[in-house]
Amino acid sequence: MTSVETTSAPTATRITGWVTGLYATALTLVVLQGVWAGIFLEHDSDLWVSVHARGAEASILVAGIATVLAFWKLRSHRSLWVVGAAFTVVLVLIAFLGGLITDNEMASLIPVHVPLAMASLLLGTWLVVRSRRIGRA
Ligand code: HEM
Repeated sequence: MTSVETTSAPTATRITGWVTGLYATALTLVVLQGVWAGIFLEHDSDLWVSVHARGAEASILVAGIATVLAFWKLRSHRSLWVVGAAFTVVLVLIAFLGGLITDNEMASLIPVHVPLAMASLLLGTWLVVRSRRIGRA
């Protein structure tokens, strides 16, 4: 006899809640990146540049965990993990460009770094709204 493994409705709802919470946390961390940037641009502070660097790592980690969880447990909701993967990759790219700006003094990349950060806010917001809707359906 073959057994088919299915995720029960309450379990799927709980997992969707986790995915929503993780994407919301990553989105909040990205918003905070703008705050830390505002502080270091105003005060020319190395401390806040490193807070910005740690914030980047945290947002990438949380977005990556949410994407893996969505891929693993909510595979049928393709948009959640495809857009989640795009969100995570964009955050990695933003962080890479940020590293070049700071370490190689490539200030010319700031006009790419900041608009990409704005784009990541759109992706993160879309993910939170979409996963919330799926959780309520
Ligand atoms: C509106 C949002 C943002 C603004 C205005 C901004 C601005 C900047 C600026 C001006 C720098 C150069 C700092 C310096 O060396 O003086 C920088 C560096 C950096 N940014 Fe952003 N950024 C934003 C969002 C983000 C996001 C969303 C990420 C990644 C998730 C990120 C990751 C980094 C990293 C990793 C560095 C290099 C820090 C280091 O190596 O110590 N930034 N950012």
